[in-house]
Amino acid sequence: MLVTLLSALLLIGQVTAQYSGHTGPITPLSSRKTLCNVLDYGGVADNSTDISAAITATYKNCVAVNTGSILYVPPGTYALKNSVQIKHGANWAFRLDGLIVAHATGDFDQNFIQFIDVSDFEFYSSNGKGAINGQGYLWRIANGIQGGPRMVRFTDSSDFSFHNVLLVDSPAFHLVVDNGLNVEIANVTIRAVGLGGSDGIDIYATNYHVHDVQVSNRDECVSVKNLSKNATIERIRCNQSGALSIGSLKSGTAVENILIQDIDVYESGAFVIKTKPSPAGSDAGYVKNVMVRRFRTWRSVYTVHIDQYWESSGLADGAGVQLSNITFSDFKGSNVDGYTRGYVVIEGSDYAPPRDIHFDKFFMFSERIYKGIGELNKCWNGYGTGECLGAGKAYTSGYESIITQTAAPTGWTAPANPTWALTTAYGTFTPIPVYTPVPTYPLDFKDYGLVAKPKTT
Ligand SMILES: *[C@@H]1O[C@H](CO)[C@@H](O)[C@H](O)[C@H]1NC(C)=O
Ligand SMILES: *[C@@H]1O[C@H](CO)[C@@H](O)[C@H](O)[C@H]1NC(C)=O
Ligand SMILES: *[C@@H]1O[C@H](CO)[C@@H](O)[C@H](O)[C@H]1NC(C)=O
Ligand SMILES: *[C@@H]1O[C@H](CO)[C@@H](O)[C@H](O)[C@H]1NC(C)=O
Ligand SMILES: *[C@@H]1O[C@H](CO)[C@@H](O)[C@H](O)[C@H]1NC(C)=O
Ligand SMILES: *[C@@H]1O[C@H](CO)[C@@H](O)[C@H](O)[C@H]1NC(C)=O
Repeated sequence: MLVTLLSALLLIGQVTAQYSGHTGPITPLSSRKTLCNVLDYGGVADNSTDISAAITATYKNCVAVNTGSILYVPPGTYALKNSVQIKHGANWAFRLDGLIVAHATGDFDQNFIQFIDVSDFEFYSSNGKGAINGQGYLWRIANGIQGGPRMVRFTDSSDFSFHNVLLVDSPAFHLVVDNGLNVEIANVTIRAVGLGGSDGIDIYATNYHVHDVQVSNRDECVSVKNLSKNATIERIRCNQSGALSIGSLKSGTAVENILIQDIDVYESGAFVIKTKPSPAGSDAGYVKNVMVRRFRTWRSVYTVHIDQYWESSGLADGAGVQLSNITFSDFKGSNVDGYTRGYVVIEGSDYAPPRDIHFDKFFMFSERIYKGIGELNKCWNGYGTGECLGAGKAYTSGYESIITQTAAPTGWTAPANPTWALTTAYGTFTPIPVYTPVPTYPLDFKDYGLVAKPKTT
């Protein structure tokens, strides 16, 4: 026991998994002197004239010929009726101080706004009012389902940031990064419908920092995608959301050196790793060197969930993604129903059982007691320490360990709701408010009076 404790402490002492050096644009905003105003290139703040052509014209005729300039969308409401795509832009900024409203009558491809191969770039708001409203509710009324364009996508881009912007009610995902390098995403508020397919941030990049982000939706809050290396994700508030996640991963996966910390989850999944088996003999890849710590939860739905048979891919006959050196530490609060969704559930791969998985300082209990049981924490396959991977229980084929808790740990009480809690999810067929409540940054991460005492057994 002592040895376990010491090794756990040592592990926590040496956190190096994270981004390093610079993220975001190389050129400071203060040295960008030229403003290229969309109003000079056909933009009209009347929520009727399509702004897409004006943005493209401003980019071509002003930004591209004035190195280091800023494409400026001043305060006002603008209609978006066609997708915007900007390629190969280096050394510029996009300042959105107004509201862009995607009209349901528009003709869009897969994204409302896409940047391809941009670098030394920032997308930001200087007045806190820069917002995009996807009016996804109109899409859902027309089509009966969630789906349609993503809101903002960065593809093959480097040294960029996206900050101080509100993303509201995209018909589908809100912010997607595909193949990024040196990325900062900060001070972003995402308000979305309480349905699946409404992901907050999906990111595949190397060396990135995502922080001070709040998300209301019913799918991933922030999702670490293949390929991801050297990242820090911190001060995230998942308000009636899905969960922080790594996945879904299948073949050739490479995810490593990830630090996730200071996360508040309210009636939301807390953390999940999702993988699927890939064909026998293939290289499914790995997820390694991950630290997940300091979570505060209110009625979380699965708190730490490792599922290597995501979407019931259990019968596939093949390699599993190898998970190793992953530590979960300092989780406090409540889960909603520990009997059906315990706060630790591991469904590890039979082909590549997780190794070096550690749980430390969990102080949680279920708000619902069913059949006299508060928590059923389950581990199927896995080597490690803490919770159902308890010390000394080495992996054997078909290994299963279930820990049943009937009573709350001494001193534990169900936490009171945080003031920022969204007690009713945003409606499916009604507009979602853009500016209320007013977001403030940095997000305040604290203990909310949640009992801090670590479990002693
Ligand atoms: C902008 O126009 C659209 C389409 O008519 C409408 O749905 C939306 O409510 C308007 N938004 C604002 C902020 O005026
Ligand atoms: C990731 O971080 C490690 C450890 O700090 C460092 O050695 C490596 O060069 C970094 N890799 C990238 C691609 O930034
Ligand atoms: C993961 O990323 C690697 C490297 O880019 C790629 O080879 C592999 O196909 C990716 N796997 C999946 C499932 O996307
Ligand atoms: C395990 O992961 C941590 C980051 O959480 C890292 O600091 C450490 O070096 C890794 N250990 C090994 C043996 O790679
Ligand atoms: C979560 O809900 C609270 C209360 O309604 C609100 O202050 C906060 O902005 C919400 N978060 C998001 C991302 O909308
Ligand atoms: C986020 O907001 C805080 C508080 O307003 C500000 O100090 C910080 O510079 C912002 N971060 C970015 C990247 O804009």
